[in-house]
Amino acid sequence: MTEEHSDALVFFGITGDLAYKQVIPALQAMAADGRLDVPIVGVAKSGWDLDQLKAHMRQSLQEHGGVDEAALTKLFARLQYIDGDYGDPTTFDRLRKALGAAARPLHYLAIPPSLFGSVAASLAESGCAKNARVVVEKPFGRDLASARELNHTLHQYFPESSIFRIDHYLGKEPVQNLLYFRFANSFLEPIWTRSWVETIQITMAESFGVQGRGRFYEETGAIRDVMQNHMLQVLALLTMEAPVGNDPDAVRDAKSLLVKSIRPLTPEDVVRGQFRGYRDEPGVAPDSPVETFAAVRLHIDTWRWSDVPIFIRVGKCLPITTTEVWAELKRPPQDMFHENVPIGANYYRFRLSPTVATALGARSKVPGEHMVGEDVELTVREHPGGGAPPYERLLGDAMEGDATLFAREDTVEAAWSVVDPILDNVTPAFEYDQNTWGPEEASGLVRDIGGWHNPAPPNVDA
Ligand code: BG6
Repeated sequence: MTEEHSDALVFFGITGDLAYKQVIPALQAMAADGRLDVPIVGVAKSGWDLDQLKAHMRQSLQEHGGVDEAALTKLFARLQYIDGDYGDPTTFDRLRKALGAAARPLHYLAIPPSLFGSVAASLAESGCAKNARVVVEKPFGRDLASARELNHTLHQYFPESSIFRIDHYLGKEPVQNLLYFRFANSFLEPIWTRSWVETIQITMAESFGVQGRGRFYEETGAIRDVMQNHMLQVLALLTMEAPVGNDPDAVRDAKSLLVKSIRPLTPEDVVRGQFRGYRDEPGVAPDSPVETFAAVRLHIDTWRWSDVPIFIRVGKCLPITTTEVWAELKRPPQDMFHENVPIGANYYRFRLSPTVATALGARSKVPGEHMVGEDVELTVREHPGGGAPPYERLLGDAMEGDATLFAREDTVEAAWSVVDPILDNVTPAFEYDQNTWGPEEASGLVRDIGGWHNPAPPNVDA
């Protein structure tokens, strides 16, 4: 299928924090590769003019990845800026003029979700939505009901095929490798079932706190911030069936089916935690019940995964920053060498960030006269990470109309259905010390499987 390339990029929220840290560097990279040879219109309400925006963009690049003068010159040559209120119809009339002859613009909404509806309506009223695509940032709703409402609102102005919901985890190379590694090899799929896999754990640990985003975090918490989206998307890629056919939606169909088969969580399946000191953060209530840590036990109700316990743990102020998948294989049927091998000797490990690794845990005989072995790890690949940052990949794909790496309506709603019963502080948030693996209570969830597997610190020389 060939999709027509968008012929303009409109960036709502170009003066915001996300733009500063991630998107402006992505735009420069796209300009460097000639993938952004279209008019670019920034829209925000900052009281700035175009020169001030350019100075701001230069500063963003100095702090995040460096300035590429040639690329930046190209970017600036195509850049326009509209300083205006999103609630004011004249902002959109000015946008229509700025778009000139562009007939298929892409509107990127890096703005609070509460504004998506009114901005979409104003785009339509001003004639800017015709043949347009719209990219929306997370969080996509704050529960199942609001996500449905948001989808309904967007669909009044844009067909689903023109809506691109960003989950930047899907733009990460090692996340795409999960799909690749599973289905580009013959050896993994036969054992990737309940017959061979004992348990799966996914840990997303961050050694930092809320980094000045206290106000945002109070509205969000760890479950909404990263569990409903990033972690369930990773789990879906890890456990879904093979995509069927060459339809561009084949991968998204397979993912959607998987997410729909995850049993909705109950309060017994979750342990929430809050790091000591969170309540002293600016913007945080002194008696805040919001979680900065969450551990859940999930069940996937499919033939392949029935009864396999699956755990996801996410948290701020943990000992290290890393995201890792750990799939433990069942033990051999007999302890043939009477070694009392500890559980967890056979496993697959996928480190997704900050370094990248694909590895397999095995037992190997120690040289000598006794039949005694040791744990070894076979490394398929280990490297320091890098590659195109997610926003470069995702915005490039959206400009081309390729939605494969974007979250689809049904999957987003299914993911909200999974976490909906545990939102809004249904269980207590237990305090934990910073620089620990979360509250002690979380170990209760994994008692039957021998405890949590704590990822090792990233090997930065990898
Ligand atoms: C964001 C969350 O979506 O993902 C942040 O809002 C989190 O709280 C971030 O820190 C993690 O992304 P990455 O790419 O740094 O692992």
